[in-house]
Amino acid sequence: MKLIIDTDPGIDDAMAIAYAAAAPEIDLIGLTTVFGNTHVHQSSRNARFLLDKLGLEAPVAEGAAFALGETSHAPSEHVHGPEGFGDITEIPQIGANHRLSAAEFLVEMARQHKGELVVCAVGPLTNIAEAIRLDPSFAGNIQRLVIMGGAVYCPGNITEHAEANIYHDASAADAVFAAPPDTVLVGLDVTLKTLYETADFEALAARSLDMGGFLRDISRFYLKFYKEVGGLDGCGLHDSTAVIACTHEPMFETVETGLQVIVEGPEIGATRPVTSRPPVRVCRDVDGAGVVSLFTERVASLP
Ligand code: BDR
Ligand code: CA
Repeated sequence: MKLIIDTDPGIDDAMAIAYAAAAPEIDLIGLTTVFGNTHVHQSSRNARFLLDKLGLEAPVAEGAAFALGETSHAPSEHVHGPEGFGDITEIPQIGANHRLSAAEFLVEMARQHKGELVVCAVGPLTNIAEAIRLDPSFAGNIQRLVIMGGAVYCPGNITEHAEANIYHDASAADAVFAAPPDTVLVGLDVTLKTLYETADFEALAARSLDMGGFLRDISRFYLKFYKEVGGLDGCGLHDSTAVIACTHEPMFETVETGLQVIVEGPEIGATRPVTSRPPVRVCRDVDGAGVVSLFTERVASLP
């Protein structure tokens, strides 16, 4: 499967990118970056660093630095650390970004690989909304859009109403759901059922010394946040679960509904089911243990 991950790395983003590199079904044709967990130039630097570490030559196209809407929220540094990789703050600049912007790259790749390209968006939806605006045929050119975002039938994480990716650019998300491509939404409804615990990271690091060890190291900060804020003994495999949904949809139970995003006021970023919009497939349940073990088995195969 030809895949582009639109991402804000980010600790769980790094896990998802590592998973994609290890998954035999995935042909990663590029990463597009966005603000969110960190500033966009840090997202791009981290993305290039990860691809180099994974031995992949895929391009990184840099995208939005701010939300499309008027409300722009500060990056989630309290969750992902000052540079996006927890306590690891010395991240080398490797190579350079692609000459096209993220939205232009998405449009171009969707044309080149018409009907074949899956886009997995695991950050705020700014680049995706921008690609749809740039090229009215973009939505029809891609095979599918899989989004990590939203909390449709459960509480949010960044506020009680909103999930972080949708909250960071509620207007962009609302624009995407107004006229969505073939879309699967992988929100907190399922990603909090894929808990990855300290012991899982240790076991992974023992099998994959370099990549697994790196993921274990950057995750300490993230696990501390989950413990302090949610009382959880692990973190959700948010972004990896979305990448797994690209290739393993039968592991998920979905319902079809239209979606609207609240774009202002105290409930900004809330994702509400509505009948007035075209349906997307919202994941309601998942084989959580299956996702955790698939993630481990694949990432453990990396050096
Ligand atoms: C999502 O928000 C970000 O903090 C994570 O990387 C993930 O994409 C989870 O709500
Ligand atoms: Ca992310």
